[in-house]
Amino acid sequence: MPTSIVLGTGRAVPGRVVTNDEFSGSMDTSDEWIRTRTGIRERRWISPGETGVDLGLEATRQALAAAGMQPGELDAIIYATITPDHFLPGNGVYLQTRLGLGPIPAIDLRMQCAGFVYALSVADAFIRGGMYRRVLVVGQEIQSTRMDVSPKGRHTAVLFADGAGAAILGATDEPGRGILAFDLHSDGAFAEKLWVEEPGSLHNPTISADRYEAGTYFLQMDGKEVFRHAVHRMPESVRTCLDRLGLAPSEIALLIPHQANMRISEMVQRELGLADSQVYNNIERYGNTTSATIPIALDECVRAGRVAPGDLVALTAFGSGFVWGSVVMRW
Ligand code: UT7
Repeated sequence: MPTSIVLGTGRAVPGRVVTNDEFSGSMDTSDEWIRTRTGIRERRWISPGETGVDLGLEATRQALAAAGMQPGELDAIIYATITPDHFLPGNGVYLQTRLGLGPIPAIDLRMQCAGFVYALSVADAFIRGGMYRRVLVVGQEIQSTRMDVSPKGRHTAVLFADGAGAAILGATDEPGRGILAFDLHSDGAFAEKLWVEEPGSLHNPTISADRYEAGTYFLQMDGKEVFRHAVHRMPESVRTCLDRLGLAPSEIALLIPHQANMRISEMVQRELGLADSQVYNNIERYGNTTSATIPIALDECVRAGRVAPGDLVALTAFGSGFVWGSVVMRW
């Protein structure tokens, strides 16, 4: 049975840098609060005219170039996003058209901050099952357009941001290489701890003028509750993968935790007993780009030479749903 390896990665973020100081003008916050409570110094937000698919396309082009592939060699697209450019169809089909591809499947997957890990699991299943040999996996979000930048939104607007990352998974028959284990979970009992209530088909029309005025389309979060679960679930999930493989955290060469809060990443690191050199964080520069945090970080690591063939790489994520999960691979 083939396993899946990463053939190439790419990333794209908007050019517009939004510093912490830009928020302190319009809401009761400060650079100091944001840095010390979250680790974020700046993030990227799109400018008018830029789209999510633009970012997904750029990240894909880089991943294709890194893999030495032409778009036509792709067998399928798995596009993780909870912020598609339109309510429907999803961004996958737009990316497919922009790449000039024939009618290959373009699957949109919405698993919030765990979107990229879940998308890898779907791509890996296609490859292991022998259905496809080269699958593009994209994680991309535009969160800035659903942020409340009034004083009421300070607990979320300073956190979330825009970006895209991509990876191409390919089949290999080399024993011991590639994706070795997944661990995936959901628990809908906490769905409303981090959600966007509307627009939704529960309402007719999907969003009414008065609900719009009430701001129900803004992302709402019980930050403390999400934090409490995230710091527990991510290390637990990494350990589950490692236990299944008979490996120890000390053998991890690189862990990329979902970038939600630097304090969460530090607690995940501590819980797993990892050294600083084993963990990569970039939240300082990008904030929380939801399904894009992991592929953006992975691409930075690959391009900086932080992963070498044979390295044990772990990715772990937690987010709205709640959904969470991890993947462990031998690079
Ligand atoms: O992607 C996955 C999902 N997201 C996450 O995993 C995020 C998880 N949660 C967090 O990262 C943190 O809970 C936050 C960063 C959202 C908040 O940090 P916290 O240390 O849990 O702060 P808090 O919610 O307990 O708020 C402490 C105080 C409150 O004021 P009072 O009630 O003590 O007077 C907040 O109103 O900080 C206030 N606050 C702010 N102050 C300045 C909240 N946001 C801000 C802000 N600037 N931007």
